[in-house]
Amino acid sequence: MIDGQTKIVGVIGNPVSHSLSPLMHNTVFEKMGLNYVYIPLHVPADYVSQIKLAMTTLSVQCANVTVPYKHTVMTLCDSLSPSSQKAQAVNAVVLENGKLFGHNTDGDGFILSLKHDLDLDVFKKKIAILGAGGSAKSIGISCLDAACDSIVVVNRSIDNASLLVDQFSQLYPQKCKVKALDDNDLDRTLHDMDIIIQTTSVGMNQPLDCPLKSFDWIQPRHVVYDIIYSPAQTRLLMEARNRQALTSNGLGMLAGQGVLSFDIFTGHTIDYTVFKHILDRQSSQ
Ligand code: ATR
Repeated sequence: MIDGQTKIVGVIGNPVSHSLSPLMHNTVFEKMGLNYVYIPLHVPADYVSQIKLAMTTLSVQCANVTVPYKHTVMTLCDSLSPSSQKAQAVNAVVLENGKLFGHNTDGDGFILSLKHDLDLDVFKKKIAILGAGGSAKSIGISCLDAACDSIVVVNRSIDNASLLVDQFSQLYPQKCKVKALDDNDLDRTLHDMDIIIQTTSVGMNQPLDCPLKSFDWIQPRHVVYDIIYSPAQTRLLMEARNRQALTSNGLGMLAGQGVLSFDIFTGHTIDYTVFKHILDRQSSQ
């Protein structure tokens, strides 16, 4: 029950109407009897620079941050966690004594999903990341932090891939390489990997689309993770499943970043499976 003491949490983005975060967080607030409410906060681009003032004015103590504001809101923070500093992006902010603290739980949310959904870690694994945007960066940083063997960034624009690899290499020299999507040798490169992580928007709501053109490199020993969760099975995941590879869609990463955000917002540690179960139930409806 919302009352005068209820703490307000939300998700800042544009658009936010599709977000599953209110469902995840509100379900657990209610279950645990925590006096919080989680609301969608649709912010037009012209107003995003006023976020700190808006949160202060309306007593919004914490918020997740989603597309397209993860970088912009980072620039408005007074202090950054190590992961948001490295990613130069935030997906969660906390207002405390007039100061805005930025966090990034996206990459570690991915690692949490890998552990719980596939019983895997990235230690000493060879990783290919498809895409060179914000999600690729957060995931890559967490994989490097967790001592993966190496990362190959595969991207349409080789310039963007090189930029990302330069940033990774500043943190971890000599572990990262670049490959273009249309490279003739791409299949051989992917074949040599352990984990392939698809982070581009290609395939979102378009089940037949995929950034890759050929799939015969996929072996049963491969792990293929697509951070898209709508549709639940992208073309890439279907091709990988047909070849007996271990696969996961992005619902787990959404649950993982949510669990870690929940901890930051409330101080309560929730079991990953609680959030994942809420999302699985919703996506099967
Ligand atoms: P996010 O922050 O969610 O990761 P983003 O920063 O917009 O999203 O990054 C989108 C990624 O998807 C980029 O790597 C982009 O490739 P370019 O760097 O070449 O632009 C990739 N991408 C988007 N549309 C694509 C397409 N049709 N084919 C291949 N890659 C695509």
